[in-house]
Amino acid sequence: MSLSGRFIFLPDEYFDGDIMVDRNPTSFLREEYLKLVEQGLDWKIRNLGGPSSTWSIVDGRKVLMLCSNNYLGLANHPRVREAAKEAIDKYGVGAGSDRSIAGNMDIHMELEETLAKFKRAPASLVFQTGYMANEGLIPQLIDRGDLVVSDELNHGSIIDGVRLSRADRAIYKHCDMDDLARVLDEAEKHDPPYKRILIVTDGVFSMDGDIAPLDRIAKLAGEHGAMVYVDDAHGEGVLGEGGRGIVSHYNLSRDEVHIEMGTFSKAFGVIGGHITGSEDLYKFAYNKARTWLLSGAMTPVSAAACKAAIEVLQDESWRVDRLWENTEYFKKAVEDLGYNTGKTQTPIIPLIVGESYLARKLAERLYEEGIFALPIFYPMVPRGTARIRLQMNTDLTREDLDFAIEKLETIGKELGIIS
Ligand SMILES: Cc1ncc(COP(=O)(O)O)c(C=O)c1O
Repeated sequence: MSLSGRFIFLPDEYFDGDIMVDRNPTSFLREEYLKLVEQGLDWKIRNLGGPSSTWSIVDGRKVLMLCSNNYLGLANHPRVREAAKEAIDKYGVGAGSDRSIAGNMDIHMELEETLAKFKRAPASLVFQTGYMANEGLIPQLIDRGDLVVSDELNHGSIIDGVRLSRADRAIYKHCDMDDLARVLDEAEKHDPPYKRILIVTDGVFSMDGDIAPLDRIAKLAGEHGAMVYVDDAHGEGVLGEGGRGIVSHYNLSRDEVHIEMGTFSKAFGVIGGHITGSEDLYKFAYNKARTWLLSGAMTPVSAAACKAAIEVLQDESWRVDRLWENTEYFKKAVEDLGYNTGKTQTPIIPLIVGESYLARKLAERLYEEGIFALPIFYPMVPRGTARIRLQMNTDLTREDLDFAIEKLETIGKELGIIS
């Protein structure tokens, strides 16, 4: 009897000689899940019963939303909603297939033109998500005989993109330019010489809110003939002139930062990713990035909403100013209360409390008192630095912020986080 024939009719567990053998090939699913539960590391995700806005219905309760990436309030903006509705009437809900197979839709091309103009760059290519942009493009930029140099705290999508490439890898200490210089100096001695070197960094680091020293990275890259790739997921709509992002923030050129990657899922309030840079980059990615070529296109509804979100941002650049006013007001208030906000420089405001149980308790008590904020702990951040990560939003009023500050004072004292 063939081996496969024997397995089909056997129960999960049976005797193999004298030894009881677990023959269920999926038993690890439950075991690993239970391990996560035991360590308190399983995700407990709340449900929204309506739009993600400053006051949202979360698990049936109206609470103040302080953990959304919707920095500028565009996720539920009337013009963005309207554009999405019109796109349904014009294009339907799906793009038919991958763009490489069933064709680009006008709206994809219009979105790319609008974005490139906004970014003051020659070209932008839109992906289905930011994750897919990193996963699809990075492994095409570097291969065997090349080197990729990555900040130790880069986002998981960069890490996965790097893992898919066959290039050598080097990690430099977080935002440490001496360490980056050391890695690049060592790379120069490599025999045979590396054909290409790619330096890749987050623009704004999502757990701490600090900004990469992209000007210094670009300078070092220039000295060593390396390419620069920045993932500006949390800088777009936030940094730079009118929210144009980190390249604008540092006033760098496309010859200094060769690949700017971004996402529509955060400040733009929709979904989707992009890479922006030269015409050559556009054509290269268009023909080689596998996640772009081999996966269904961004829906026309999303594309229209993303385009409208860029247009709103251009017409309402006060949204970026208001975001920063809220950030400064709130950050100062929570620091005055005695909270540790780490090294944030952006609307990401972590309240670092130390142990994971305390972060969980703080998030739980805040929810009970009408505030939605997420606890973040190991392995997302180093052990002993558990936190809740709060994010500012343009549409938060002074009363909303004062409400949150008052609750943070009461609950922080109750839990012994502040005195
Ligand atoms: C730094 C960074 N890069 C990439 C992504 C992925 O973007 P998207 O949500 O568009 O897949 C995220 C999202 O969490 C992020 O924070």
